[in-house]
Amino acid sequence: MGSGIAEVAARAGHSVTVREMNSELLARGQGLVEKSLSTALRRGKLSAEARDAAWAKLTFTTELAGLAQCDLVIEAATENPTVKKELFAALDATCSPATILASNTSSIPIVELAAATKRPALVLGLHFFNPAPVMQLVEVIRTIVVADATIDAVTHFAEGLGKTAILAKDRAGFIVNVLLVPYLLDAVRLVEQGVASKEDIDLGMRLGCGHPMGPLQLLDFVGIDTTYYIAEIMFQEYKEAKFAPPPLLKHMTIAGLHGRKTGQGFYNYP
Ligand code: CAA
Repeated sequence: MGSGIAEVAARAGHSVTVREMNSELLARGQGLVEKSLSTALRRGKLSAEARDAAWAKLTFTTELAGLAQCDLVIEAATENPTVKKELFAALDATCSPATILASNTSSIPIVELAAATKRPALVLGLHFFNPAPVMQLVEVIRTIVVADATIDAVTHFAEGLGKTAILAKDRAGFIVNVLLVPYLLDAVRLVEQGVASKEDIDLGMRLGCGHPMGPLQLLDFVGIDTTYYIAEIMFQEYKEAKFAPPPLLKHMTIAGLHGRKTGQGFYNYP
């Protein structure tokens, strides 16, 4: 998600600093941006000049201090509340007092991240959808302590990226994942129960409901592990059975069958 968000912002003309944990991950992210820009060029979505201009807007670093002077930081770390809270505390200590801190979390209540900082009025959710360069939507998440000016500024920023912003209260899963995650988990339950083959489950939703991907294809695309962590967080928040991750999802996460990114999930990606 991080590489996609960085690409979208650079394509909209913003100067973007991408920070990763180490040089290996940084090189991988850099490669993803390069590949996606090439695809966009090949598909006629942008000119060679626009591709070069976007690339020139990107700076890559492993230092958190590289973000100190940013107007807006968009965090896209792994879906782990402890990792994100530590990161928000570190960003708060590093960034200028005026920097807005946004999280691309899919499920963690934003107030938990705001509380890790001394600037809760400048902390909000800005949730992109995968693949970020293609998907039209962003969710803007309003905590009970964020300033209206922060919501306005970030909504304006999102619209400047060419996205459509929808505003949600700060509840785990916000709008889209409250609807999407139980559906994905039910598809895993159908597999567990042997109701149909995975191919037929996917065909059912593609051809029967016009979805671009079936639920098991989408799980592989989003990440089996990511969906498992999201479901765990939503189950903790709501204590409703519909958010409880099925055992198969947990076992696939433990076994490293995380979907496209590891080459195997419900399907194989040689
Ligand atoms: N930059 C710009 N445009 C690009 C691009 C890029 N790097 N790569 C592809 N595109 C464009 C293509 O040119 C094409 O545009 P047109 O329709 O105008 O021709 C369009 O994107 C679709 O691309 P493809 O033809 O290559 O691929 P596709 O038709 O097979 O669609 C897909 C691929 C967009 C991923 C589609 O399968 C899809 O929408 N899948 C569902 C994705 C989804 O649901 N995402 C949300 C997941 S949930 C989430 O992210 C949130 C969370 O918290 C879990």
